[in-house]
Amino acid sequence: TMIKLTYFGHSSYLVEINDTKILFDPFISPNSKASKIDVSSIKADYVLLSHGHEDHVADAESITKANNAMLVSNYEIAVWFAQKGVEKYHPMNIGGSKVFDFGRVKYVNAVHSSTLPDGASGGNPGGFVIKHDSGCFYYAGDTALTYDMKLIAEEFKIDFAILPIGDNFTMDIQDAIKAADFVGTKKIVGMHYNTFPYIEIDLEAAKKAVSEAGKELILINIGDSITL
Ligand code: NI
Ligand code: MN
Repeated sequence: TMIKLTYFGHSSYLVEINDTKILFDPFISPNSKASKIDVSSIKADYVLLSHGHEDHVADAESITKANNAMLVSNYEIAVWFAQKGVEKYHPMNIGGSKVFDFGRVKYVNAVHSSTLPDGASGGNPGGFVIKHDSGCFYYAGDTALTYDMKLIAEEFKIDFAILPIGDNFTMDIQDAIKAADFVGTKKIVGMHYNTFPYIEIDLEAAKKAVSEAGKELILINIGDSITL
């Protein structure tokens, strides 16, 4: 199985496993850096939301409805979207896992906050471990570095980790390097950087730090795809 990743900017990745399209944290139409992405053309079978912040859920309702996709998030966020008319949704909570047709999803701890755009409680923030038939990856969401990430390495063999690197609201690159160590991978796919002034970072310095740590920083141009 080849895993295809397409970057839609900020923390939004489309991951294709075989023929299943899994979209993470769509924040595209409000993101001026992603203005070339046509949201209405995005195809998704599943929409996974790590937490309730606007910069992770902005396009979730429209994309989920347009594709009749399955929305997967924590209980509070899933029900909030159900109340907006999203028909297919699956609520989870931290530490729980569920087997879908593409593989097993475990909703794991993140150290962050999760208020929804209208001020409603978005429950507790999380990340996802996705175990499919030929591998496993971690999508961290917004989080600080936490020792809980070591539990992921105890349970799973992580091929690559999609980690926030933009600092200020989340881990910076140094903590992302430690997070990759904790979950047991050398491959960091970066997210949550350079979207806003608060999270602007020096990408050359980040790449240098990661290579000096013996790891690989994978950064994808917005709109581009890679296979892993
Ligand atoms: Ni956030
Ligand atoms: Mn965020």
